[in-house]
Amino acid sequence: MEEQSSLFLGFGVVPVLIISVSLGTLIALVFFSDYFRQKRSEVETISKPDEIVNHKSKRSSHNNNSRKPHSRSQLHASDKDQVKRHHPLDINTLKGHGDSVTALCFSSDGRNLATACADGIVRIFKLDDALSKSFKFLRINLPAGGQPTAVAFSDGASSVVVSSQNLSGSSLYMYGEGSANSANDGGKQQPKLPVPEIKWEHRKVHQSRAIVTLSGTAASYDTADGSTVIVSCSEGTDIILWHGKSGKILGNTDTNQLKNNMATVSPNGRFIAAAAFTADVKVWEIVYSKDGSVKEVAAVMQLKGHKSAVTWLCFSPNSEQIITASKDGTIRIWNINVRYHLSEDPKTLKVFPIPLHDSEGETLHYDRLSISPDGKVLAATHDSMLQWLCVETGKVLDTADKAHDANITGIAWAPKKIPMGPDRGMVLATAGADKKVKFWMAPA
Ligand SMILES: *[C@@H]1O[C@H](CO)[C@@H](O)[C@H](O)[C@H]1NC(C)=O
Ligand SMILES: *[C@@H]1O[C@H](CO)[C@@H](O)[C@H](O)[C@H]1NC(C)=O
Ligand SMILES: *[C@@H]1O[C@H](CO)[C@@H](O)[C@H](O)[C@H]1NC(C)=O
Repeated sequence: MEEQSSLFLGFGVVPVLIISVSLGTLIALVFFSDYFRQKRSEVETISKPDEIVNHKSKRSSHNNNSRKPHSRSQLHASDKDQVKRHHPLDINTLKGHGDSVTALCFSSDGRNLATACADGIVRIFKLDDALSKSFKFLRINLPAGGQPTAVAFSDGASSVVVSSQNLSGSSLYMYGEGSANSANDGGKQQPKLPVPEIKWEHRKVHQSRAIVTLSGTAASYDTADGSTVIVSCSEGTDIILWHGKSGKILGNTDTNQLKNNMATVSPNGRFIAAAAFTADVKVWEIVYSKDGSVKEVAAVMQLKGHKSAVTWLCFSPNSEQIITASKDGTIRIWNINVRYHLSEDPKTLKVFPIPLHDSEGETLHYDRLSISPDGKVLAATHDSMLQWLCVETGKVLDTADKAHDANITGIAWAPKKIPMGPDRGMVLATAGADKKVKFWMAPA
């Protein structure tokens, strides 16, 4: 214990020394700037804080993770940068997107991954093996001029709801399996995957505001009939609940919190929770009738405790907890399995400081969260950085400082273990503005 803390201190002292040395140098520079002009670049190199950060992260990423996946990327060993940056948990990259990937989501069995891309195409990849070198995908070309902003699976593995935005506002489209593109073409080609076609669409939804998130689940709570419900969240304050199959509006609500960051539905289809501009988190219950249909969307709880905007939240896999990340520099875990109808309030189970600081020591916030299907690992992103935290202790399990070459735009764990070579594993997918989707295995 003692050794560890003195080691830690040691790390703290070195940068302080360097900073004070370089500060002194800078002051000298002010007085002797002419004399030192030629040496200035040298001084700047020494005081560059990046050096120190890099050393630290190198140390931590050299710990004992499986090296197996390394060999995969070295297939492209010509790309030296790629190899240098390669993170031990990085197991695959899906290339072929023509522009920024704007969103992604897994089907409920984890075997299909849908991506929305600024090239106007939604792709549904078949994940028979997360380590595979290539993946088959269904390609859905959105109506011309629309940019997909979010995607969610509806009922079935080739059925997705996509939000698309153009100058006149936001539209929602549901694509489902079309009439089978049967192999009557002489049998030369392999049987094709059926081409999805539009099953329903709604134009100018959310009063023409952009849709920031879509979240869907097969509702299993209480008398729900197992059909998929989809929650769309606008950048304004409104939230709409849709029936995935029919496109019927089942309910709507409003955060009245200036601006929504995101909203999501619990895995069992019971609750909707939203992260918005102000600190409190509102939670609604989707009330089902005896016949399985949705009766109402009722405001039932507020999570009070954060001091600043909540940037993102997620439900635990059992739908009994909510994890929130806030600009106040903390993550909170809430128990929402309370008798709120008897005025019992949701309780904060844990508060963790966000272990992320800029060069001035200011705490940074997380942009996005996703919890692993076993409920143990929280994946969180900030710009292009990806971090894995232990849900139990809040400790950092691993960090990929530059997980993507541009900002991360989407993050999701496959909801079940999926095939990874000869094994099965928990797989995290991230989407980036660098036109890539990456797969990561869980830290040990
Ligand atoms: C790395 O892992 C191996 C086997 O899992 C173990 O024997 C070894 O002690 C570990 N090394 C370190 C530095 O933790
Ligand atoms: C936007 O998309 C809608 C729905 O497809 C379409 O009706 C409308 O003409 C488009 N507007 C523009 C300006 O492209
Ligand atoms: C990434 O997103 C942040 C906002 O979270 C923005 O300030 C920054 O400019 C973005 N970086 C790039 C490279 O787009």
